[in-house]
Amino acid sequence: MAGEPIIAAHSVRKVYRSGTAATVALDGVSLTIRRGEYVAIIGKSGAGKSTLLYQLSLLDEPTEGEVYFLGNATAQLTDTERTRLRLEHLGYIFQDYALLPELTAVENVMVPMLMRGFPLEEARKRAIAALEQVALGHRLSNRPSELSGGEQQRVSIARAVADAPDVLFADEPTANLDTAMSLEVLEQFDYLHRKGLTIVTVTHELEYARRAERVIELRDGKIVRDGPAEEVIRLRERELEQMMHHERQEQKGGGKE
Ligand SMILES: Nc1ncnc2c1ncn2[C@@H]1O[C@H](COP(=O)(O)OP(=O)(O)O)[C@@H](O)[C@H]1O
Ligand SMILES: [Mg+2]
Repeated sequence: MAGEPIIAAHSVRKVYRSGTAATVALDGVSLTIRRGEYVAIIGKSGAGKSTLLYQLSLLDEPTEGEVYFLGNATAQLTDTERTRLRLEHLGYIFQDYALLPELTAVENVMVPMLMRGFPLEEARKRAIAALEQVALGHRLSNRPSELSGGEQQRVSIARAVADAPDVLFADEPTANLDTAMSLEVLEQFDYLHRKGLTIVTVTHELEYARRAERVIELRDGKIVRDGPAEEVIRLRERELEQMMHHERQEQKGGGKE
């Protein structure tokens, strides 16, 4: 199923500096994402999930190490080349949808294609087709404020995939959605993955990560697990149970004093 390597991280370190303080957000991360994979990155808040997604998706550059895209190192690219590569090959979905409030649904979906230089009518045609695919064909002319959270996130999915990217990146795409709307988004992901799209998503919900094929668990900026979703999640759940068990034992112990 999984094909050629699309993205590879080699010993990636990311250190954020502000004044004299330094935070090591990623501490030697290596991994390969292959075409057709559906990967979920999990871990506690502050584990480095977003930072990893930003390095893999070329929105940011590592402090040390290298990120390869289709076998080519990306560190030497100029800003213009990186932007071009992102526009041509990568799609993005964020927790807060990141839609432009003044634009209609169809206009929002058109933006990246226009930035890439598509003729207006071609961009519009593709945008409408993408919105129809996420069942929003009846909401083309609505602005984000006139749409539910789930609908807004589906507009952002349409925007991310309208130009057939090589990889779809999503950072906690369901964090602001209720269960029903979250499932709508996840069903869209399942559908896109079945059609062959490569997906890399960040989530802290194990139930959502389970829908991926492969799960990568981060802790303190390091990969602690990387494998088939079922296996990684089973191990993580067992660990959580043991932690809860220990806590209960300690509470009981405390009660006796
Ligand atoms: N722009 C930034 N400047 C300074 N520290 C940051 C910045 N972004 C993230 N961090 C820190 O890096 C670590 C990892 O953050 P992040 O990747 O956002 O984690 P996650 O997405 O898993 O919650 C955290 O300690 C966080 O506080
Ligand atoms: Mg995050």
